[in-house]
Amino acid sequence: MAVTTQQLIQWKQQGRSIVALTAWDYAIAQILDAAGVDLILVGDTLALVLGYETTLPVTLEEILHHAKAVRRGVKRALLVVDLPFLTYQESPQQAMHSAGRVLKETGAQAVKMEGGYPAMIETVAHLVQAGIPVMGHVGLTPQSIHQIGLRQQGKTPEAEEKILAEALALQQAGVFSIVLEHIPTQLGLQITQKLTIPTIGIGAGPYCDGQVLVTSDVLGLSERKPPFAKSYTNLQDTITQAVQSYTFEVREHKFPPEEEVGK
Ligand code: KIV
Repeated sequence: MAVTTQQLIQWKQQGRSIVALTAWDYAIAQILDAAGVDLILVGDTLALVLGYETTLPVTLEEILHHAKAVRRGVKRALLVVDLPFLTYQESPQQAMHSAGRVLKETGAQAVKMEGGYPAMIETVAHLVQAGIPVMGHVGLTPQSIHQIGLRQQGKTPEAEEKILAEALALQQAGVFSIVLEHIPTQLGLQITQKLTIPTIGIGAGPYCDGQVLVTSDVLGLSERKPPFAKSYTNLQDTITQAVQSYTFEVREHKFPPEEEVGK
């Protein structure tokens, strides 16, 4: 059965942890979906897969292009797509236009937007009232890299208070879930306990209702990964070895073999 936003809320109530990963193309999406990932995010970390230094340059057109490919590979997981930098911050109308394009053109079920109180609250409410499911994202918000860097957030009592207030205001505005990025474990726990919607943590400790990682980090394909990420394999080495073997065999006239294949 396909995963829905309501299902995620039920899983929180049942204490069943939610598994989320990012995807950027058809092949990766198919593998993640078949492996049982619950939520697949076409994140704006797509920028890093495309060779940009930060998430800021990625455009709505690029996200739409990749999200369509991911959609073709996803049968079960809930598909969420990030709204890129400056495609929603200007006004609720701009956000509606961008989110509408994502849902209509890609077939994704929801959008994710960074930021909270007070700027994003009106925008989230505007989209939710129009029937667009929205996922929030607070704590470290990489689209604000030039203001806050990529440091852990919520380290002072005031900063903790602000992130908690943002999460509560986003819930009130109607988000179905919130990503908590790079905040102290205790704050992740506190927010998770206070909210009725699921929290999905990335560098926010083990007490969130689910976890998300960037798939290129998980697969060992990233040039650099954040301190809280974990690689479960090293595809960079695996691919290098495969390509070196192929190169050797071609240069040594060992591939293709002399006898015809498929006779
Ligand atoms: O863009 C992204 O990949 C994200 C995750 C870090 C949650 O927003």
